[in-house]
Amino acid sequence: MPNAALTAVITGAAGEIGIAIAERLANAGYRLVLSDLDLSRLDTLAADLPAHSVLATQRHDVASMADAEALAKTCATLRTGTLRTGIDCVVCSAGLYEDLAIEEVGPEEWRRSMAVNLDGTFYTVQALRPYLSEGSAVVNIASVAGHRGSVSHTPYAAAKGGVLTLTRSLAQELAPKTRVNAVSPGLIDTRMIQALDADKRNAMVAAMPLQRLGTAAEVADVVVFLASPAAGYITGETIHVNGGHYLHS
Ligand SMILES: NC(=O)c1ccc[n+]([C@@H]2O[C@H](COP(=O)([O-])OP(=O)(O)OC[C@H]3O[C@@H](n4cnc5c(N)ncnc54)[C@H](O)[C@@H]3O)[C@@H](O)[C@H]2O)c1
Repeated sequence: MPNAALTAVITGAAGEIGIAIAERLANAGYRLVLSDLDLSRLDTLAADLPAHSVLATQRHDVASMADAEALAKTCATLRTGTLRTGIDCVVCSAGLYEDLAIEEVGPEEWRRSMAVNLDGTFYTVQALRPYLSEGSAVVNIASVAGHRGSVSHTPYAAAKGGVLTLTRSLAQELAPKTRVNAVSPGLIDTRMIQALDADKRNAMVAAMPLQRLGTAAEVADVVVFLASPAAGYITGETIHVNGGHYLHS
């Protein structure tokens, strides 16, 4: 395996978007450090990735700073071994989408959403920052909900709105060494949106210009672009991947 290979860290890598990103980055020549709350699902999915692309898998609750530091420690260990030049790409894809009307949101529900969706993104980037290579890229997975708000998903939408602002702040703090951007998916065909009421989902799809759900691969392709030198002059930005849903919801 060439030492010159690029290295990417992906959180929430056992998610459908996370694993699609892992697959695309592996095909683009990255070696991967993959983390998720659900390590057994992650290990099962990682076994299907291209041979030799996975450097490590790790159980990582993004809401825990201690877990973020443990992930950074793994990267530090790899740095003295296979990972010689540091981390070239960090993708924060872990997320929690809960369908809760406002009266169902207590302090616990509110904090859980903030902890996973917002704190988790910050803790991950902060802990991995010392290992980022020159010219590296962070890509945070936000959501159309972070721009438009979302009925029955108030904590999620607020946290994702925070991810957008966090992205712009980090883009300034980590420059010029690291570019920081976000991708805001709309309705992507993964298990995450299965909780959405089917009639509501069908109505949203019918109203959007491209009239279909997006795929995890379509989100992953944009992440790979933002990580690549082709996006070398882009930082602090958000790319929407939503079939025009943003225009018509
Ligand atoms: N699917 C969509 O339509 C959609 C739309 C907009 C944004 N997104 C965002 O895309 C990202 C990926 O979502 P997905 O569709 O692949 O969903 P998914 O449910 O398949 O994946 C989410 C992953 O996050 C992991 N996770 C949950 N809590 C965690 C925690 N505390 N620590 C670490 N990992 C944790 C889960 O185990 C899971 O593997 C999320 O950030 C989500 O908010 C998805």
